[in-house]
Amino acid sequence: MKSGTENLPCAKVEKRKGEEIRSALKERNLLRTDVRITSDDKFVYLPLIRALTDNELREIGAEKLLTRDFAILEERKSIDDIVGFKPSYEVIGDIAVLTEVVNDTKELLVAQALIELHKNIKVVAKRISPVEGVFRTRKLELITGESRTDTIHKEHGCKYKLDLEKVYFNPRLAEERNRVASQLDRTNEEEIIDMFAGVGSFSIQVAKRAPQSHVTAIDINPDAIQYLRENIRLNGVRNIEAIEGDIKEIYTQFINTADRIIMNLPKSAYVFLREALSMLKPRGGIIHFYDLESSYSDERAKRSKSVERAITQAKEKFMAHVQELSGEFHFSSIEIQEARKVKAYAPYAYIIGIDAKIEK
Ligand SMILES: C[S@@+](CC[C@H](N)C(=O)[O-])C[C@H]1O[C@@H](n2cnc3c(N)ncnc32)[C@H](O)[C@@H]1O
Repeated sequence: MKSGTENLPCAKVEKRKGEEIRSALKERNLLRTDVRITSDDKFVYLPLIRALTDNELREIGAEKLLTRDFAILEERKSIDDIVGFKPSYEVIGDIAVLTEVVNDTKELLVAQALIELHKNIKVVAKRISPVEGVFRTRKLELITGESRTDTIHKEHGCKYKLDLEKVYFNPRLAEERNRVASQLDRTNEEEIIDMFAGVGSFSIQVAKRAPQSHVTAIDINPDAIQYLRENIRLNGVRNIEAIEGDIKEIYTQFINTADRIIMNLPKSAYVFLREALSMLKPRGGIIHFYDLESSYSDERAKRSKSVERAITQAKEKFMAHVQELSGEFHFSSIEIQEARKVKAYAPYAYIIGIDAKIEK
């Protein structure tokens, strides 16, 4: 045996069947994953935990059993091993943003380790303000790497170009965006309004999923609209119209036009509920509503049910606000189809997502 190698039983399989047999062996816990698989022109050699019987070989479709030297893979160090603690960070495109305060020495250590370990990370920054203002943006300070805050983030087959200091973007909403987009299909033609569209993170997914539908994507932040227009081109979607403006002022252009409305402005979405309801078609439609709810209690039993209580609070609040406006809109039915925790916002505070079907 050469140094750094191990002599192991292996299955010799035809290259065209290699991936299928590798998966089958892995599923049955028969594959050694700590050594490098080898191949030649025609065959792949899959290292095994133990020698297989003739029956087993036949069953998985392998040619024959051999023994061979395999190179032992070096164990990849994790960032926790290098820096000695578990740092909190999120990755947007090729920028890593530290999300928890640590001292300057630790911060630099984490930043350098991130760049060293992840070849796709080119910039490391830290948050130096909360998300604030009408545009919902935050300030960053660069720690190491290239000197920029713009990047292209990829998510569920979509690309979002954005500048982290000029626009709002949260990679932790990826599943939520996918969940909303998955409610659309290629058969129903819908008119969708994304009232607080940002760089198009909901709009583009939805427009891609339902090319026969049309999305009006509105935002008050000129930078967000500029990126949104770029993202429309980048993703090759033709069914989105990007509009810069304050929805409070421009909603009158869209009265009675929407089948579906997305309202992702959790801190103040209620302020815009009247405008949203007036934009729904006369027969009504769906509203995807996001609300920030905190639910702290000193009592232990109640604390452990914090998320459940936040969801109940959000549902009750939504129903109360819509009912308050029912004199104006004469709804025949209001149904909350689903309410769920989208993400934690702070200890005992959560963003709650509500899907409501409203019939006028
Ligand atoms: C929380 S961000 C959501 C952005 C995007 N939907 C996303 O998920 O990435 C809210 C967005 O609403 C925009 N906004 C705030 N007030 C607005 C208003 N009155 N009219 C239109 N857009 C507004 C902000 O500029 C910001 O881009």
